[in-house]
Amino acid sequence: MERPINATIRGTGSYVPPRIVPNDEFTQSLDTSDEWIRTRTGIRERRHAGPGDTAATMGTLAAREALSAAGVAPGEIDLIVCATVTPDLMCPSTACLIQSYLDCRTVPAFDISAACSGFVYALSVAEQYIRTGSAKTVLVVGAEVLSRVTDFSDRNTCILFGDGAGAVVLGASTDPARGLFNIRLFADGSRQELIQVPSLVTPNPPPGSMALPNLRYLRMNGREVFKFAVTQLRAQVELALADCKRLGKELSLIVPHQVNVRVIDAALEDLDFPAEKVVVNLDKYGNTSAASVPIALDEAVRAGRCKPGDTLLLVAFGGGLTWSSALVTL
Ligand SMILES: CC(C)(COP(=O)(O)OP(=O)(O)OC[C@H]1O[C@@H](n2cnc3c(N)ncnc32)[C@H](O)[C@@H]1OP(=O)(O)O)[C@@H](O)C(=O)NCCC(=O)NCCS
Repeated sequence: MERPINATIRGTGSYVPPRIVPNDEFTQSLDTSDEWIRTRTGIRERRHAGPGDTAATMGTLAAREALSAAGVAPGEIDLIVCATVTPDLMCPSTACLIQSYLDCRTVPAFDISAACSGFVYALSVAEQYIRTGSAKTVLVVGAEVLSRVTDFSDRNTCILFGDGAGAVVLGASTDPARGLFNIRLFADGSRQELIQVPSLVTPNPPPGSMALPNLRYLRMNGREVFKFAVTQLRAQVELALADCKRLGKELSLIVPHQVNVRVIDAALEDLDFPAEKVVVNLDKYGNTSAASVPIALDEAVRAGRCKPGDTLLLVAFGGGLTWSSALVTL
């Protein structure tokens, strides 16, 4: 009998642009302080894209790292899925641009739009292509240039976001002990107004949405998003801990969406999960939306915080509203 196919992580990569924006930079034009930003969010600095950086250029650099870590040549990729809400163009997709920059022949390439949950959504699509035998090797990218949709006169949002990209190469394996499992995706469009990024075709004013003073910029109800994030992060972690217990696996590391250190602390409070097994790098990068989980995952892998055989929880939540999680045994 043929053994079922699993999607395993073969390699990870990430890229952040070199320009570091410390909290103090915002105090020159806004009524804010380094102390407020650090204590209310945990963020010390973030990266902002340079004039030539886009989701596709940064995604390509992250992808090259992931391919090199996996020992996979661009010509071996069967499919490219890119998660982004800040694409270079509305058409063609960022995934198509990455495909051309990597010179990956004519393999299918498309984008996923699920805000900060986008990378886990993209992983779930890639995983299904692999599990059904439609693809053997899939490149999954999360890439964002949020600084281009940030209103730098809005202290509620501009301090939170950063730019960057992360990528993984997924491969087919028949080893039952390894791979992605128990992927969960959710969406609640009835709360769509809590975070919005307008597009070129957004009507003015957008139906059923927040009044957008400027149709270019991200708007958010921070307090409501905060409550949603704590609730869903906690719920996903509880589900994952129960899954692992049932399967006799130990959860080695949680790689959460990097939203706000207070969100992560509040969600994990009393859960009896050691804080040192939670990856937090938002102090350096802020919230990079779909890029946040793959950047944090890549840093954890490269820092030796996880090894083959370890089981990790990737968990994200954001605009839509959307939320998602995936367990993976490396
Ligand atoms: C945005 C966020 C940091 C605000 O922190 P908070 O503790 O909830 O603060 P509040 O919204 O209650 O605002 C408290 C006060 O701080 C003020 N404030 C907001 N941003 C500020 C800043 N950068 N500097 C100084 N004061 C600020 C507010 O205007 C408010 O003042 P007021 O009471 O006079 O109206 C927090 O809600 C958050 O992280 N939410 C999640 C956001 C997110 O990352 N979403 C992305 C999608 S997942």
